[in-house]
Amino acid sequence: MSAIASRPASNAEKWPAAIQVAGMNRPSGLTANFIVHRAALSGLLWPSFSPLVGPYSLANRLVMAPMTRSRAQLDGTPGASAATYYAQRASIGLIVTEGTQPSEDGQGYLMTPGIYTDAHVAGWRTVSDAVHAKGGRLFIQLMHAGRMSHPDNTPHHRQGVAPSAIGSGAHMFTPTGLQPAPAPRALSLDEIGQTVADFRFAARRAIEAGADGVEIHGANAYLIQQFLAPSANTRTDAYGGSIENRARFAIEVAQAVADEIGADRTAIRLSPGTAMWGIDEGPEGPALYRYLVAELNKLELAYLHVMQQGSEALLVDIRRLWMGMLILNRPGRARDHIGVDVTWRFADLESYGQMVLANPDFVARLKADASMNAADRGSFFGGGDAGYIDYPELEIDVDVDAETALT
Ligand SMILES: Cc1cc2nc3c(=O)[nH]c(=O)nc-3n(C[C@H](O)[C@H](O)[C@H](O)COP(=O)(O)O)c2cc1C
Repeated sequence: MSAIASRPASNAEKWPAAIQVAGMNRPSGLTANFIVHRAALSGLLWPSFSPLVGPYSLANRLVMAPMTRSRAQLDGTPGASAATYYAQRASIGLIVTEGTQPSEDGQGYLMTPGIYTDAHVAGWRTVSDAVHAKGGRLFIQLMHAGRMSHPDNTPHHRQGVAPSAIGSGAHMFTPTGLQPAPAPRALSLDEIGQTVADFRFAARRAIEAGADGVEIHGANAYLIQQFLAPSANTRTDAYGGSIENRARFAIEVAQAVADEIGADRTAIRLSPGTAMWGIDEGPEGPALYRYLVAELNKLELAYLHVMQQGSEALLVDIRRLWMGMLILNRPGRARDHIGVDVTWRFADLESYGQMVLANPDFVARLKADASMNAADRGSFFGGGDAGYIDYPELEIDVDVDAETALT
């Protein structure tokens, strides 16, 4: 269900005039939608003040959502074209990189990058430098896959680790095709402490590599969300059972990373209500997220990035509980709705994945109201430069005309 349909009528007085005038929440013709689209876009692309993420001023309120591309070298060093790929997209306000393992055990998929060895740091340094040279900003996403791992996908070939020895039921791409992800082994208490330390170390290395910050991947059924969900976490120690216990790992990771590199360079991504790969947060799910977000809020992180697939009511609560910057990602959001969440003040920034993947000049295309390239799903994961750095850009300079058209 879209936010537009579900926004409670009692909040109507909070909506900016442009939205009410355009009648966004009632059946409307093309003209009304066009007006809203334009109003929403102007807030995103020409914000009245520079949005701040931690200490950084961003050029606009658009964010590249993190996307695994499986083009790293076997040892986890970013691939030869990674710097070009990210630099091509540097006009977006903030780039969140593909999920990057903080340790050997954090890897689950083939050819994903890491950020814990000297070679990783040197590889990511070329990416950071290329993005900064174009005036962009990037946060490296720290992703521990947990039980979403297959031994055939990693150089060490070890069994995946998780809060409990419960399989996800998922199938994963491996060098020999689709295979069931084997059941993981449960982390010991000492290993949980080591995993928190691994996140901390990786965050330090990301900063050494020139990243502007890190986003902790707490979403999409990977390790941190496995701790949150009773379907994946049946521990009876301090990390399982109650809401407080299941949220403990996420909070400890965020705290450790913030202590290491500064809260203003630390961010986290959550996907409340995600129900995939064996993740079921159960009836306590909304209460867990209200607790978790309230606790994370105390850390004063750079931002919270919500991938919204669950309840709109919970999202409203999260918005109230989270005092910092909120980045919102609504999977599959139609182009005509880009900017609506920022216009409503429902989010401070909006992130987009596939449209940015397929349109290196996403921002210029929005300014020009130009058409977008379609994403080629066949080249999402793995392969060479095709479908990676060869998406065509617009050939016209659009800034002046587009800005005039919006005023
Ligand atoms: C190819 C691909 C890889 C992705 N990899 C990640 C990832 O590494 N980390 C993550 O948090 N989300 C990942 N996602 C989810 C995206 O960040 C985003 O939430 C999703 O694509 C929905 O947004 P969109 O409709 O704008 O693409 C991935 C999505 C795609 C399409």
